[in-house]
Amino acid sequence: MSTKFERTLVTSALPYANGHIHLGHLAGAYLPADIYVRYKRLRGKKVLYICGSDEYGVPITLTALKEGISPQDVIDRYHAANAESFARFGMSFDVYGRTSWPLHVDTTQAFFQALGQGGHIDQQEMELWHSEASDRFLPDRYVKGTCPKCGYADANGDECENCGAQYAAHELIDPRANIPGDSSTPALRKSAHWFLRLQDFTDRLRAWLDGHPEWRANVKGIAGGWVSELHARCITRDTDWGVPIPIDDPIAQGKRIYVWFDAPIGYVTNTRQWGIDKGLGDDAWQPWWKDNATRLIHFIGKDNVPFHAVIFPAMLMGQDGYILPDQVVGNEYLNVVNRETGVAEKGSKSKGNMISVRWFLERFSQDAARYYLAAIMPESRDAAFDWDEFRNRYNGELCDVVGNFVHRSLTMTVKNFDGKVPEPGALDADDQALLDSLPVQLDGVAEALEEFRFRLSLERFIEIGRKANQYFDAKAPWTTRKTDLVRTATTLYVCCQVVRTLCTAMAPFLPAGAEKLAGILNIALPNNGPDGGDDIWTAAKALLSAGAPLNTPEVLFPKLDPDYIAALAEEHRAGKAH
Ligand code: 2FM
Ligand code: ZN
Repeated sequence: MSTKFERTLVTSALPYANGHIHLGHLAGAYLPADIYVRYKRLRGKKVLYICGSDEYGVPITLTALKEGISPQDVIDRYHAANAESFARFGMSFDVYGRTSWPLHVDTTQAFFQALGQGGHIDQQEMELWHSEASDRFLPDRYVKGTCPKCGYADANGDECENCGAQYAAHELIDPRANIPGDSSTPALRKSAHWFLRLQDFTDRLRAWLDGHPEWRANVKGIAGGWVSELHARCITRDTDWGVPIPIDDPIAQGKRIYVWFDAPIGYVTNTRQWGIDKGLGDDAWQPWWKDNATRLIHFIGKDNVPFHAVIFPAMLMGQDGYILPDQVVGNEYLNVVNRETGVAEKGSKSKGNMISVRWFLERFSQDAARYYLAAIMPESRDAAFDWDEFRNRYNGELCDVVGNFVHRSLTMTVKNFDGKVPEPGALDADDQALLDSLPVQLDGVAEALEEFRFRLSLERFIEIGRKANQYFDAKAPWTTRKTDLVRTATTLYVCCQVVRTLCTAMAPFLPAGAEKLAGILNIALPNNGPDGGDDIWTAAKALLSAGAPLNTPEVLFPKLDPDYIAALAEEHRAGKAH
């Protein structure tokens, strides 16, 4: 599928700047994208990776009201905190933008206007809840009540978090205002709003989805369901926090574009701003969004599938010359295992069971976090964070298999062969078989990454270490060292080649570990930019030369102590991992 493309534009869902990101976010929309992008860069491909904060919407103004601060204060706080968490996790975005950037008004309004000119936006009157006490309409979470479908008592104005139902505001039972200081009973009032006629795009969307049989079943299933019943969706709200509606009509004053309309356009804004900030000119973004030779890939969690596989593509179809996503990689959810019951539970603020990225990375290394989350990535079904499994998999696989092989190979080499890759003697069948398997194994890691099968790819990486340990144990260089130095040199020469392969294979998953190891091996692992460069991945199949100098080895992946894990699991259980 990907051969016709010259460049790849990758996006990860823009997280709301309304709270700290947690491990579930990382496993869903961020880590897989970062692994993919790092791999593609190593292949020398032209890749641009876009993310940023989603900074509008009602939850942000509600947070501001609750804390007695401005919405700007809220987004400034969480934008900075989340950007830092992502950096600590080793995310390699080319730009981490903000939908509050002034440029975003221009991009969003241009999208709105093009859709309007195409006849795809209607104005309609709606009946919405209005609070006399606060003298305002109550969009989304500003009103709560009982769900008309399942009876849940804390349902939002137009959707229920409990059963997922969506309904018209007037269907909500026993409504009450949900504003600090105002829980009055609201009344229905008419308000004019703008609607995107999604039904205009049904045939084109269906044809486009049918053209992608290779997508994951979960994404195709959700998108297919939506496309069969498209109708006009309201894309404005009664709020003053958002992008102004580009319509010269007093009715549009005091209303703003709905956050779910402007958020995906943030990918375009952030690409535009990236080009400007890099000094590449105002039009540098255009080939990334308007050239059919660009492959657009969205990485998201499954709750975002309708927006990325239906609504945003419809919005793109209503523009002039934009490409459509070629792949939408939607992950399932990461739950959390309750240590008392052993049962996996959904992460929830009220249960206090979510683990924030900043909390976790103050206590564990980036490599440990990335390894475990990649190992349990919720690709085709929900997965669950479990403290014992975290310790067992990180210690038992990354440390014991890969880390241990690398360490014993390099320490023995440096000690016995003057800090250099040894000169091998004649290769026997085992030596040759292992050397021959290395490029094949590296291809196996790559092939799984090309197919977005991250867990499989990681398993193949660990498998390289497993085979190498078997070889090491069979050749027993710690014994031959006393009897046959040429044999020992040959064994360790082969081991050094495996270490080099491991270094390349781990680079997309574990960039910190790979960088350390590349330093020990004295090899370059450069990070290609958006213009691409050398195919470092393929070049790494070449063998290290005998006599090449090595630096002093250090432990790449220190093991986790069970008591340390137990103490932190207890902090988490007490609701303090935020
Ligand atoms: O679900 C979320 O966290 C949204 N803020 C994702 C937006 S993705 C894109 F459209 F920007
Ligand atoms: Zn419900």
